[in-house]
Amino acid sequence: MIALHAGTAYTAVMANLTIRQLDEETKRKLRLRAAANGRSMEDETRTILRELLSVDRSAAGPRAPRPVGAAPAAMSGARPALASTPAALRRTVSGLAGASILLVIGGGVAAYKSLDLIRRLRERGAKVRVVMTKAAQEFVTPLSVGALTGGTVFTELFAREAEHDVGHIRLAREADLVIVAPATADRLAKMAAGIADDLAGAVLLATRAPVLLAPAMNPAMWSHPATQRSVATLAADGALFIGPNAGEMAESGEAGIGRMAEPLEILAAAEAILTPRDLPLAGRHVVVTSGPTHEPIDPVRYLANRSSGKQGHAIAAAAAAAGARVTLVAGPVAIPDPPGVEAIHVETAAEMLAAVERALPADIAIMAAAVADWRAATRAGEKIKKGSGAPPRLALAENPDILATVAHLKAGRPRLVVGFAAETSDLLVNATAKRRRKGADWILANDVSGGQGMGQDDNTVHLVTEAGVETWPTLPKEEVASLLVARLAAALGELKEAAE
Ligand code: C5P
Repeated sequence: MIALHAGTAYTAVMANLTIRQLDEETKRKLRLRAAANGRSMEDETRTILRELLSVDRSAAGPRAPRPVGAAPAAMSGARPALASTPAALRRTVSGLAGASILLVIGGGVAAYKSLDLIRRLRERGAKVRVVMTKAAQEFVTPLSVGALTGGTVFTELFAREAEHDVGHIRLAREADLVIVAPATADRLAKMAAGIADDLAGAVLLATRAPVLLAPAMNPAMWSHPATQRSVATLAADGALFIGPNAGEMAESGEAGIGRMAEPLEILAAAEAILTPRDLPLAGRHVVVTSGPTHEPIDPVRYLANRSSGKQGHAIAAAAAAAGARVTLVAGPVAIPDPPGVEAIHVETAAEMLAAVERALPADIAIMAAAVADWRAATRAGEKIKKGSGAPPRLALAENPDILATVAHLKAGRPRLVVGFAAETSDLLVNATAKRRRKGADWILANDVSGGQGMGQDDNTVHLVTEAGVETWPTLPKEEVASLLVARLAAALGELKEAAE
């Protein structure tokens, strides 16, 4: 098979190549290409090789099987497998938080366990849509499933309203992962044959998302050669299996392999599938500050600024999408927490510093918050009253500088510390001086004169590093974030190479 042959060649080439051995000019071009595509240098190299060898991953034949969960040792034929990199995984998804899961409930006694699965998926921040087969409705009702998902339960292939509203193709396409639990012998056979005579079948045929199957059936049905043929075919097609487990069956006196995996096992498998391993910041911890701080004057008044948090939140989201564990320390903002990050909400600069210190150690710290430079020297316990005399004088005290504190840490300093410089005049001179003074590795400088940048959707930034200044085009804040994250991933990779 051509694709497999090419894949073997690609592995062999990779084994002989390290980026360090490339000449400086090639490295520079590779770095730029990687940054523009939002990949690490290693990933970009893999992509180039793949293109060169014309390896179409989607046509790369059977994926390398990897066991997941409690795969019964006694099982013959194809082993339950978890593909190492589901080709269809959406780039923005990392983990269950924010992921769209389509759960297909098949007709088996184990269908009741799927109710618990829905609850646990939602607890972890996943959006869950459910398709129920006709047989499934004999075991649990669409009403109880709908109560748990808080949305429509899809049951009919030709339901005019549902087709008009969502449709089986949209159901299939909008999922990041499709889980079939319980997957009956009949469903496995239908899937292996590509039969789409009901909604579940149509969705399973139309989806490009990874499909996780949790088989559940009588041990005799599971071990039957027909079922094992279906399992082998589906595994070769790239389907992923969790279970079945060995144990007691619902039928009295029956035991063997055929019990559906427990909801927590299915959940762990789903999490593993949705956590891609070769993302540029996989395994890294990134701390981001974002938004303004509010410095109270009295119980109702505070000092603040116009920061919306859009840029910092976009950076946190981009770092999470790049596979990092992200701690976002956010001041008071009106925008939601990005999916897949641990958000810590604070009000004042002192609270922000304490939260950042608690979040360390980290590989990267990006201080994008517009921290108030000063706070009221004293905080009145009661609302300050308007008197008949002169207005009250507001004494100020200086706030701790979070960026400088983190950048000057003697022990546990993140390998890359990035700050922002919002300036209204002499932008680059001030930003360059700020980088040195605060001890940051990089400063992203932006001109906020005339209301630019702050609160807006676009940003024009200059990247100030030890090597000099690089001006980026005006971009949506999400793209500034992606570019920054790509550059950080590349820089971390280089630091690692230099250390080797
Ligand atoms: O000094 P200035 O406020 O212009 O510096 C901006 C940079 O310093 C930003 O990265 C901001 O997050 C950080 N900063 C900080 N703590 C402060 C003031 C600013 O982390 N108290």
